[in-house]
Amino acid sequence: MKERLKDSLIAIKRGQEPDKESLKRLIEGEDEEVCREMISMADETRRKYYGNKVYVRGLIEITNYCKRNCKYCGIRGKNSKVERYRLSKDEILMCCRKGYDLGYRTFVLQGGEDNYYSDDIVVEIISAIKEAFADVAVTLSIGEKSEEGYRAYYEAGADRYLIRHETASPSLYDQVHEGMHLDSRLECLKRLGRIGYQIGAGFMVGLPGQTDDDLAEDLLLLMKMQPHMVGIGPFIPHEDTPFRAFPKGDMEKTIRTIALTRLLVPKSLIPATTALGTADECGREKGLMAGANVLMPNLSPMEDRSKYMLYNGKLCTGEESAEQIQSIGDKVKSIGYQLDMSRGDHFDWRKNK
Ligand code: 5AD
Repeated sequence: MKERLKDSLIAIKRGQEPDKESLKRLIEGEDEEVCREMISMADETRRKYYGNKVYVRGLIEITNYCKRNCKYCGIRGKNSKVERYRLSKDEILMCCRKGYDLGYRTFVLQGGEDNYYSDDIVVEIISAIKEAFADVAVTLSIGEKSEEGYRAYYEAGADRYLIRHETASPSLYDQVHEGMHLDSRLECLKRLGRIGYQIGAGFMVGLPGQTDDDLAEDLLLLMKMQPHMVGIGPFIPHEDTPFRAFPKGDMEKTIRTIALTRLLVPKSLIPATTALGTADECGREKGLMAGANVLMPNLSPMEDRSKYMLYNGKLCTGEESAEQIQSIGDKVKSIGYQLDMSRGDHFDWRKNK
């Protein structure tokens, strides 16, 4: 059995599609030796394309208003306990200024689905950032929008778009996202790809009701899609959501799915997410050593950070903080990698420039 799993790892590394049973076994991590091998192969693969570089993005959480009601998410519209905030264009520009002076060259604007930010307002914000800082990349993470909307943001200068598919199981997707459907989500990813964005998909590990079969489907979907970026983190409960009583996702399983993602989507940019760091003190380091190569420290205004609580305990100060870039760099160095403050575009995108 062990030999068969090793063979399927080698096949995956050669670019072959794994059969679902082997993939499930690798996700389950039943054999320690195979796991170690998988992780070292993932590290080797990231080095092949990106060397020992770890890219950084300044994360600006622009609004915690949200019209959606995802059952796992702390800022879901129906959570009346959240103290809501939204940032104005000038406040966002101030965050970018601070980030730029610290050396950041990618800003990620993330928020709930907040109707206040009409397409025109989003365009205005992107144009203002691009005008003030000519050499930065702007990544958006503001949910499902129309094709015209996505196109307008792109023309205003947005470079990348993150919209996790959350889970590749249509039934689980419907269960956890009130009134939303996986098809529309995947359609958004297609739209963004057609327009020319570098796109980011991704999912949570340990969602209530999720099986290893579902996770295998997540990985197979990613292999087909070959997105530029993949965000993966463990589910972590939030006390004011319908999923408050469920346990958090398995940390080691999350690390294995990251390693497998690196092997199945070799050139992707994979963040060691805040959720990883929240679930385990060494979570981000483990993620980096298993093939992740991006960190997204928080650049939001200090007074708003604690209001963007997607799950309990979400880190937002300490080494999750954009201001701590020096100590983040030291930590990264101590495990054998090197921070890179450039835009950090996808391998193929750089090659084509
Ligand atoms: N636990 C872990 N991750 C979460 N997200 C939202 N809520 C939670 C939670 N409770 C993730 C989703 C979303 C991203 C911004 O944060 O995958 O896409």
